[in-house]
Amino acid sequence: MTNAIEVSGLNTFYGKSHILHDVSIVAEEGSVTTLLGRNGAGKTTTMRSIMGLTPARSGTVKVFGTDSVKLAPYRVARLGVGYVPEGRRVFPNLTVEDNLKVPQGAKGPFDIPRIYSLFPRLEQRKMNRGRQLSGGEQEMLSIARALLLNPKVLILDEPSQGLAPLIVRDVFKIVSSMKQEGMTVLLVEQNVRMALEVADTAYVLDHGVVVHKGPAAALAADENLIQSLAGASAEEWDLDKAH
Ligand SMILES: Nc1ncnc2c1ncn2[C@@H]1O[C@H](COP(=O)(O)OP(=O)(O)O)[C@@H](O)[C@H]1O
Ligand SMILES: [Mg+2]
Repeated sequence: MTNAIEVSGLNTFYGKSHILHDVSIVAEEGSVTTLLGRNGAGKTTTMRSIMGLTPARSGTVKVFGTDSVKLAPYRVARLGVGYVPEGRRVFPNLTVEDNLKVPQGAKGPFDIPRIYSLFPRLEQRKMNRGRQLSGGEQEMLSIARALLLNPKVLILDEPSQGLAPLIVRDVFKIVSSMKQEGMTVLLVEQNVRMALEVADTAYVLDHGVVVHKGPAAALAADENLIQSLAGASAEEWDLDKAH
């Protein structure tokens, strides 16, 4: 199995704050890997370190075997890594259609017609401006724009954040169709149940340390393990189950 992304022994700081402690994560080609953990655990920092946006102080990142830890973000992207950051970043004054025309990507399975068939809602709204969209529509537009670059790996940072349950379903359906296309997905989530449903492998991060790694199905089936791993975040995980 090829490793699409291989993170080893990553240590990342914000100023003097040591945030990531020897974080090691592997995303196998063609699989969905989820990174779970409570707010502040270091999930976003891990993704930013992979992308070169918050460079790690030590450790290595390999993208399809190429050492990328010292590369600028645009060069990491050129290795085939797409990134949908936390919070929605769409051009508020451009129409949906024009937002979709911005990415100049590699040829591949995703073009605008394909995007419209995956996200019918975006086609209905194509003449609306970014700022007129609902949170769910903006999230879909953010994901759609990343897909148009036809990356080999797509990193999604909390795509379900703040979305209504029905929209969350749609977002996760899209993750499944990316996997069917053979794309590698690295999914950061706080929605534990949904993430474990779609993922092959799950990691749990706590205080910048990887505290669990294993098959997603095994974690999903083990309430006690979820609870013990959750530690201080048990309430959030409970909250999630209550939905
Ligand atoms: N730009 C920043 N400057 C200083 N500290 C930060 C910054 N961004 C995040 N942090 C801190 O780093 C830790 C990890 O944050 P983050 O990676 O955003 O966690 P998560 O995505 O898991 O919620 C938190 O304690 C957070 O307060
Ligand atoms: Mg985050």
